[in-house]
Amino acid sequence: MSEVTAIAHPNFALVKYWGKADSVSNKPAMSSISLTIDALTSTTNISKNQGSSENIWILNGEEQNDLARINPVLKYLNNISRNNYGCIIKSGNNFPTSAGLASSASGIASLVIAYNQLFRLDMSFDQLVEASMLGSGSAPRSLLGGFVILNVENELYSQTILEPEDWPLSIIICITDDKEKIISSREGMEISRKTSPFYQSWLDTNKGDIQIAKSAIAEQDIKKLGEVTEKNCYLMHQVMRTSSPQINYMTERTNNCIEEIKEIRKDGIELFFTVDAGPQVKIVCKPEDKELIKDRLINKPYVTKLVEANIGNGARVIDEG
Ligand code: DP6
Repeated sequence: MSEVTAIAHPNFALVKYWGKADSVSNKPAMSSISLTIDALTSTTNISKNQGSSENIWILNGEEQNDLARINPVLKYLNNISRNNYGCIIKSGNNFPTSAGLASSASGIASLVIAYNQLFRLDMSFDQLVEASMLGSGSAPRSLLGGFVILNVENELYSQTILEPEDWPLSIIICITDDKEKIISSREGMEISRKTSPFYQSWLDTNKGDIQIAKSAIAEQDIKKLGEVTEKNCYLMHQVMRTSSPQINYMTERTNNCIEEIKEIRKDGIELFFTVDAGPQVKIVCKPEDKELIKDRLINKPYVTKLVEANIGNGARVIDEG
């Protein structure tokens, strides 16, 4: 086999990860629960760089000079494959990179899945989790579909807790600004860990939030899941804002969007939102309310674009030859 192409979807967290336990393994300091987004896709094509030990990474058509994000992943994978040659990795996203839409999670997950197939490694799922975590702490969640937990308490594992078809909620992503973020999540979470006075309470609330979110998902209770998701989101952004230097990913446009979502809720529609390391707002709602919510947001000056999605599947090989 000379080349393999795999895809993965980004995910966004309902109970979030912001802070690392260990910067070498890149292990998150807290567990997280996410939803995989079907409409957004990262695609990675990988082949051997015959006769050369150099790795080449082309992202969205541009050769990258800095391979720091993928080097630890490749080192882990090369150790298993005993491959001494480099790889040619071509990846692309059908959505803005580094704008708070978790492009690194889906990019890394698709890379790991493609490499595993190219070298026929038959890696265990735990190895896939470890390898992808080296590239991004949220990447192990993109290996899977549906509602996914990345557990770091006692034991490290990533697991689907509910399949997409078992609770087919809709997702609407409000793009308020698609420029690249100034502070990467990696830098930002290290600053927060070292400086935010709320970091410890953020860590302390994680277990409880995970439990509430798990039971809300098991009961398919959108109100309960929304409450814990929004509370968790606000606390993470408070940790960011109280860091030194201050980190603020939420803009005025983000806040305007959230205000309108709250108005829609006052009108009796069940929906909830979350915001990650970027200004975009992700909405979760029932499929029957999707059109109405879109109509309320589509012409707002603070919304550049609305992306509709469903809950997606895990990373997979789509082509080999
Ligand atoms: C705010 O996984 O992008 O989206 O591990 O350094 O690559 P690295 O960070 P990353 O951080 C995700 C942060 C978040 C919350 C979340 O997705 O849980």
